[in-house]
Order: sequence, then structure tokens, then C-alpha cells
Amino acid sequence: MAHKLALIGFGVVGQGLAEILVNKKEELKTRYGFEGKIVAISDLHKGSLYDPNGLDIETLLSIVRETGKIDSYPDTPTLVRGWDSFKTICQSNADTVVEVSYTDVKTGQPAIDHCKAAFESGKHVVMSNKGPVALAYQELSELARKHNVRWGFEGSVMSGTPTIRLPLACLAGNEIREVKGILNGTTNFILTKMEEGMTYEDALSEAQRLGYAEADPTADVEGFDALYKIVILANVIMGVPLKREDVSRQGITALTPEDIAQAKAENKRWKLIARAKKEGDKVVASIAPEKVPLTDALAGITGATNAITYDCDLAGPITVVGAGAGKTETGYSILIDLINISRGQI
Ligand code: HSE
Repeated sequence: MAHKLALIGFGVVGQGLAEILVNKKEELKTRYGFEGKIVAISDLHKGSLYDPNGLDIETLLSIVRETGKIDSYPDTPTLVRGWDSFKTICQSNADTVVEVSYTDVKTGQPAIDHCKAAFESGKHVVMSNKGPVALAYQELSELARKHNVRWGFEGSVMSGTPTIRLPLACLAGNEIREVKGILNGTTNFILTKMEEGMTYEDALSEAQRLGYAEADPTADVEGFDALYKIVILANVIMGVPLKREDVSRQGITALTPEDIAQAKAENKRWKLIARAKKEGDKVVASIAPEKVPLTDALAGITGATNAITYDCDLAGPITVVGAGAGKTETGYSILIDLINISRGQI
């Protein structure tokens, strides 16, 4: 049976998912028994459509590419227009809400309220938004459990690189004593370019042009983006209710070309390291630039690539390297949550 989806937002991530559903339609069906049917899209700026029988995804993609909106989608006898996000979440026949709205990471809204409305109306939620997971993990996961629905957020850390499912599923049975990584692509890209002789300003502009940076790049360069991600990992992977106020934070803006050259002379590289370490029953977490020796695996991670090392008591250190952003990669993170929900797996 098709898995019915309501997309709240139809920006880069929503369109990335829609493209995958079109391009991999047959393979998803035959290999994984998964058929994604978009029944609703509600986007504050692009318009809102609901058809309980399903919307044609190729038509949606072609009109959004041409007009930037979805209003010109052709009428059908069962099509309804103009529902807001909450009506779409509560009244559509979707099984799962794909929450990909623009969300303020400082408040987690409107995504937190979207999750609550979905869970209370018996719908699963998948998302790549960091805000709700970093700010309300305990409350929302409890609410999802109470309503017997699932909440997937694989893409909230390192997009489609399985930083959440890998430790939860494949490393089950280990105690993870430390999580340490490069969780922000923009800053790693800037540091790499500065080593090559580019100025900080030019490297940041290039990161913005390539689409790595957040809408407000202060979130990247001052370490807030990485901070939210380490809070998510501490809560979800290490099982500790760490809050953003508990994490010490320093970005990369104070690093000078002289600092970069000095590290090079010492056979080291500056990296913005996100760390959460168990100390007794507490977790101590920080975001800070560190001079990493070239012999360390994290020193070799250049450009916008991300990496994370899980220090496991049984398996030893396990490092995952991969993309931390991107339309297809983040669209994929949503897909992998959907496939696992439809299979009844983690
Ligand atoms: N701005 C983020 C980064 C994108 O540079 O890694 C993904 O959260």
C-alpha cells in the first residue's frame, strides 16, 4: 500500500525528496516495497494543495521550477486548495508528515507545533530540521510514543550520512563514551580555503554561493549550527538530556591567517571540533577550534565534508565521513526515515 505523505514546505529539501521519489519510483517499489505518494503540500509562499488520491509529482516539480509556486497545478475533482499547515497536518489522509518548513532554529517553531499536531492526530513525522530535535527532543519523543507514531530526523545531523541511525541500529550494545566531529561544512570549507591562501571573507562568500552556509552565516561561523547538532547527538545517541545552554561555544571568527600558518608549520590543521564526552553520569560538550595533528583522521577532512567519530566501549572508535548538506543528500535523509518507518524498523 502506498505511504501517503503531506509535505509542510516545498523548498530545497522537499523538492529533493520529490525528485528521488520520481527517479527511483520503480526501484523503491521492487527492492524495498516502498511507494511514496504525496497527497498534500502546504508551503507558506508557494501555495497549498491537497488531493486525497495523490498529486502528480512530476507536474508539481515542473511547475515549481517554472513559476516558483504550485498554484498553477491543474484542477481535479478531488483537489482542495489553500489549506494552511495545521489543517493539512490534521485533516489530510497522510500517514506521515514531512516537516520541511522554514524553521527558526532558536525557537524550533513552527516545526515543534507541527510535530505536536501531527502526533496528536496519529501521524508519523520525518524532518531534517535541527530545531525541534535540539530543543524539544524529550517532550516530542515522549508525545510520539504516547500516540504510537514514529518521529524520524536522520537528516538533522550530517544530512543523508547516517550519523543517527548508524549508532542506534548498527552500534547497539556499545556504550558511546565520546562523540567528536566536524559537524559544520561551511566552517570546514572556510578553514580549508584559508589554508590555500584565500581570505576569510572570500571563502565565506564562496560557501554562501555554493549553498552550504545557513541563511544567517553567523550560525555557522560562530558555532551555533554545530552546537545544535552536538545537543541532538548527546540526547539521542548518548541518552543524556543536554541543553544548548550546557555547551561551551567558540566559533572560527577569531582565527587569523597567522594562526593558520602557525598550525601548518606544526604539521597541524585548525578544525572546528564538536565534542560530547561522558564524565561520570554527566556529558561535557563543547564547540571550539582545535589544532588537529595531521595524523588524526579528522585532519584529512577538507572542504564542506563532515565527519564524526563515535568512541565505543566494545567496537572502539568508529568514524563516519560524508556530506553534511545538499539537496539530494538531505532529500535522501527523509527517504531513509520513510523507508524504515514503513518497514517498522529504527
Ligand atoms: N550550514 C550547514 C553547514 C548546513 O555548513 O554544515 C547543514 O546543517
